[in-house]
Amino acid sequence: MIVTIDGPAGSGKSTTARGVADRLGFVYLDTGAMYRAVALAFRRGGASPSERGAAQVLPSLELGVKYVGDDMRVLLGGEDVTPHLRTAEVGALVSPVATLRPVRERMVKEQRRIGWEQEERHGGVVLDGRDTGTVVFPDADVKIYMVADLDERARRRQQEYESRGDSVPLAEVREEIKERDQRDRSRDIAPLRRADDAIAYDTTDETIEDQVQFVVDRVKAVGEEGT
Ligand code: DC
Repeated sequence: MIVTIDGPAGSGKSTTARGVADRLGFVYLDTGAMYRAVALAFRRGGASPSERGAAQVLPSLELGVKYVGDDMRVLLGGEDVTPHLRTAEVGALVSPVATLRPVRERMVKEQRRIGWEQEERHGGVVLDGRDTGTVVFPDADVKIYMVADLDERARRRQQEYESRGDSVPLAEVREEIKERDQRDRSRDIAPLRRADDAIAYDTTDETIEDQVQFVVDRVKAVGEEGT
């Protein structure tokens, strides 16, 4: 069973995807973390977010994913870089890096490989990202496209920063995610958009429990159809 959850920043994808995987005994694959790890490799290699930078970074890139219990960790050259992925520096670089064709081609290949492998092992995978239902797994069993009002998304992201000890003004967070969404939506390759067969879900007034239940219900309905 492959479940994809796409949508803009702060729409609730990752918390929901994690919760759904937990409830169903599936594995969670955070595709954004993989793009963030590539951005970190660009940063560490002093490469610019360009085709030339990609030619410099990708040939020696050793990107891996491992699971510690339910927790997904991202490895770069064997080093667990998960704690370094949500910094402001990586946040600023990831969106331009994610527009590069060679980067996306490589990531899609890796995500399919991990997805199939984990589906076989655990019976199901929940992916979250921007193109998981349109490009990575266009034949996914359940596709969700999550949206929420910009103000609500900014508030959630601000809280996330706060929980890590970063105090960022709301207006600044709002601008940051607005800009990021604009870039993710307007890029030429695999732009953020709802797949035609994805279920649109507005989470503005929803709780995390509601969100998890919403997706779990869809997964169960598809499972019952197939029996
Ligand atoms: O979900 P996130 O904030 O960790 O994503 C970081 C960036 O990676 C985001 O700006 C868009 C990009 N991304 C992407 O292009 N495709 C994906 N499947 C996931 C993330």
